[in-house]
Amino acid sequence: MRKEKIAVDGKFSGYYREECDKIASFYDFGAKLFYFPFGGERKFRRMFVEFISPKSGERVLDVCCGTGTLSVLIAKKVGSRESIVGVDLSPEMIKVAKQKKKGFNIELVLATAELLPFKDGSFDKALCSLGLHEMTKTGRQNSLKETRRILKDNGKLHICDWNTPEDHFSCFIEKLFLKIYEGETAYNMVFKGNFLEEIRKSGFKIIKRKTCSINILQMILAKKDDT
Ligand SMILES: C[S@@+](CC[C@H](N)C(=O)[O-])C[C@H]1O[C@@H](n2cnc3c(N)ncnc32)[C@H](O)[C@@H]1O
Repeated sequence: MRKEKIAVDGKFSGYYREECDKIASFYDFGAKLFYFPFGGERKFRRMFVEFISPKSGERVLDVCCGTGTLSVLIAKKVGSRESIVGVDLSPEMIKVAKQKKKGFNIELVLATAELLPFKDGSFDKALCSLGLHEMTKTGRQNSLKETRRILKDNGKLHICDWNTPEDHFSCFIEKLFLKIYEGETAYNMVFKGNFLEEIRKSGFKIIKRKTCSINILQMILAKKDDT
């Protein structure tokens, strides 16, 4: 298992893998290579943007935005006047995202998803793509609850992350990748825990779910559950 570090500078604290800083400059290239056998990164990203279906006038938060790929795609979709905010705990990821966001109205914030520096009910939509598996179960719960807090009452959460595939082939591929590359937190979330139940326990109701990329990934649409 790779090391995690705690980033504390008085403004934020939380766990994240220090590898996120080290891989930031070639993350986008790595993503292209990884998704190539599964139909390509562009296809998968477009599918997720369609799933989010961002509308003009909506305020969108990209939690664990990484190098900002989705923030930029959403900005392109809704037009540059809309305000999109990306949050990530890795300074190096934010640095790359800042280079990519040029010309778009995207605000990038260095902060932990566990303590979001925004007012209650200030976003229409939040997304988290491939971020939650990076966290411990507690970190994930804190982040999901924080995301719920910053969403408006009718706000929506869109998650894209590892699925638990039922077929042997996809299961084998994913287990291999998670063991070799992602590490214990991701493996535990996918194969030892119940991710959907974690989302529900954080105060969300799952309203739509679909799998993609030979079922190794899933997209989840959830809304605040007030019952
Ligand atoms: C695999 S990358 C995904 C990046 C991007 N969302 C994408 O779809 O390509 C995971 C990101 O989550 C960030 N991250 C992990 N834990 C975090 C936390 N507690 N708060 C904020 N960001 C976090 C990492 O720094 C990293 O940039």
